Parts: sequence; structure tokens; C-alpha cells
Amino acid sequence: MNLWIMFSLLALLCLELQHASCQQQLKRRKDIGDNRIRPGGKRVKLRYPKVKEGAVKGQSLLTQVLDKGRFIRLGPTATMAPGKPIELRCKGNSIGWSYPPYLDTFNDSRLSIKHTDKYSQLILTSPSAADTGPYSCWVIVCDGSECDRDHERTYVSYIYFSDNDNLFVPSAIHFEIIYLRPNQPAVVPCRVTNAQAKVSLHREVPPEEITTNNTLVTYDPTKGFVLQNPSKEHQGVFYCKAETRGTPQISTKYQLLYVEVPSGPPYVSLEVSPESVRGGDNINVTCTALGEPEEDMNFSWIYPGQDQRPVQTHTSWRLVKRGAGQTTRVSKSVLTVEDMETIDFGNYICRAKNGHGETIVTTDIVPKNP
Ligand SMILES: *[C@@H]1O[C@H](CO)[C@@H](O)[C@H](O)[C@H]1NC(C)=O
Ligand SMILES: *[C@@H]1O[C@H](CO)[C@@H](O)[C@H](O)[C@H]1NC(C)=O
Ligand SMILES: *[C@@H]1O[C@H](CO)[C@@H](O)[C@H](O)[C@H]1NC(C)=O
Ligand SMILES: *[C@@H]1O[C@H](CO)[C@@H](O)[C@H](O)[C@H]1NC(C)=O
Repeated sequence: MNLWIMFSLLALLCLELQHASCQQQLKRRKDIGDNRIRPGGKRVKLRYPKVKEGAVKGQSLLTQVLDKGRFIRLGPTATMAPGKPIELRCKGNSIGWSYPPYLDTFNDSRLSIKHTDKYSQLILTSPSAADTGPYSCWVIVCDGSECDRDHERTYVSYIYFSDNDNLFVPSAIHFEIIYLRPNQPAVVPCRVTNAQAKVSLHREVPPEEITTNNTLVTYDPTKGFVLQNPSKEHQGVFYCKAETRGTPQISTKYQLLYVEVPSGPPYVSLEVSPESVRGGDNINVTCTALGEPEEDMNFSWIYPGQDQRPVQTHTSWRLVKRGAGQTTRVSKSVLTVEDMETIDFGNYICRAKNGHGETIVTTDIVPKNP
């Protein structure tokens, strides 16, 4: 079921991207799905982390229920076999949970959570490599009607659903954009389903392996490659390669873009078309704002005929490359007035707002004498 959702989604993305390698990948994934019972019947070996009694202050209340009513405490990481349902429990009568966001995105019916007086239970039927990620539970404490998470009693286990056919945690996004910013670490999120896999980072053109060292480029199987201090030189198309035994596997591709817009209110300009306006003309007033690539820009307008004249606004954005390999998001709001009347002449004010502040620009439209 879950795999089919993935296929459909990938198929949709393929349609959009018209990407030849996407088709190939889709085919490969499909083949895997069709051959879930592997010849030779090789089984994924289960290894449960051993938690030393009394070793950790405030022992984890997060446990996994095994067959025959046995329990094991989950440590910071755990490895489980895909396909087999898992049941996690957390002791307490008021418990909150978190799990990989992927499970919510697809409103997955494989996941269920039940609460009882003594514990809370999370069940995930037929888990797959894509469900690899952090599973966490915590005690909810209430003071009157205000409830909050007890940070002292929050437990998390990163669960690997190790699947030799999917060394990388499958991603619904085939081609991901990663923004690089000065003085901020960037992550190339090629996570693996087996913590023992040997993973390397590669640039596509020119083909080059990026060597990890313990300072500037590091690999964390639960995150991916972390670039501590990214620079313009790190731009380009990258992919990861993973290997346990046998043939290496390739991750999805990542486009790394360098962004150097200072964080602040947007740069905004306002333009009127046509340049000179007469009564009866149709006009466009265009408000253009520059900001950071992944940041939303909100526009609002104040104009003379407000609430009295029908106007249309149309908002759009696109990414553009500026000099020196930087990328900026150009957002536009176009206000259209048809058949200019006396009431429509005057001050047009555009307010553009992003997460860092607001910029207001204004232009006065005066009628041109005939
Ligand atoms: C998720 O699934 C449940 C039960 O099938 C349904 O009631 C709910 O509306 C769904 N939510 C979304 C956002 O699709
Ligand atoms: C780590 O790698 C970077 C880039 O490959 C290099 O500039 C840096 O000197 C290396 N640091 C160490 C400690 O080797
Ligand atoms: C206003 O914008 C619309 C849509 O882009 C365009 O079709 C129209 O020609 C423009 N009108 C003027 C006067 O610039
Ligand atoms: C922009 O508007 C949306 C919806 O009205 C809102 O959720 C969002 O927080 C706003 N963003 C900013 C930066 O004001």
C-alpha cells in the first residue's frame, strides 16, 4: 500500500519533470516492490541495542513490545526489520508522540496510536525503509487547563528499518534544492537505513568526490552530509553513494544553491504600466520584491478606489540567479484596474512583508492631460 503511494507520487513527479533517470528509478523501485520475497531468503539480522540498567539517568519509558509479551527498552538508536509490524509503548496516562513527518504527510492508515490509563501504544503495520527516523514519546503535564510536554521525560529512539534494497531512506522528492548560506551549516539529507553503510558525497559535474573530514564536511546517518561552512564553491548538482556489501546505491539528486541576500525587510519597487495614464485606460501596477528563496512574501495594497471599484491582484514568484552565483526569489503582485475613472487616480501603496519586516512603497498616479 505504502509502496504504491510512493510509486504514484514518483510517477506524478516524473510526469512533471520529464526526467529520464526518474523513469529509470521508478522502474527500479517497482521491480523491488514486485520482488519483495527475495530469492535465497536472506533475512535482515535484528540487533537490539542493549541499555545498561541504571546507565542512563531517568531511564527511557519508551519500549518495544516483542512477541509473547516481552518488552525491550529502546536506546537512542534501534534497528528493525521492514515488513514486520512494530508496537511501541510509553508508560503513563497522558503521553504525546512524534514520528517521521512522512507518516502524517500521507495520512498513513498504517499508523495508529491508542491511549490507556497505564500506557500509550503506537503501532505501525508493515513499516518500510521510508519510515526510518526518530520516534519519540513524552509525558504530558497539566497545570489546570494548560498542558505541556515534560522535557525531562521525553524519550527518543532513531529507528532504522534496514532494507538492503533501499540503503537510502526513499524520498518522495526526486530532485531537491538545498540552500547554502554563509555562516550556516547546510545539510544534504541523504539518510541511510543501515547505520553501517559506507556513504560518500559526489559532485556530478565535474565528477568529484567530496571528502569528509571531521571539521568542514561530516556525515551523520540520521541527517546526511553536513557542510559546516558552505561557500559558493559548494554549488552544483550532488548525489550520495552508499555501500554495505555488493553494488553501491545512488541517492536522489540535490541542487545546492548559494544565497547571499542579507536577512532583512524585502527590497521593493513599484511600476505603473502604461507610463502615462488617461481616463478609460487599463493599468497594471506591479510591486516587485526581492527576498530569500524559500521565504514567503505577503503583499497588501492600499489604493484610491478601495472597496468601491473592482480591481484584480495577481501574485507570483520565481527564482532568479543574480551575479556571482547567488539566487534570489523575485515575488510580484500585480494590481489591475480597468477603465480608469476619476476616483482611481491618486496614491497606490504596496506593502511587502517577509519574516524579517515590511517595506512600503508608493506611487502617485495622476491623469495625463489629453
Ligand atoms: C486522514 O484520514 C482520516 C481517517 O481516514 C480522515 O478522517 C481525515 O480526514 C484524513 N485527513 C486528511 C488531512 O486527509
Ligand atoms: C577538510 O576539508 C576541507 C575541504 O575539503 C579542507 O579545506 C580542510 O582543510 C580540511 N580540514 C582538515 C582538518 O583536514
Ligand atoms: C497588464 O498585465 C496583463 C497580464 O500580464 C497584460 O495582459 C496586459 O497587457 C497588461 N496591461 C498593461 C496596460 O500593461
Ligand atoms: C503571509 O500570509 C499568510 C496567510 O495569510 C500567513 O500565514 C503568513 O504567516 C504570512 N507571512 C508573513 C511573513 O507575514
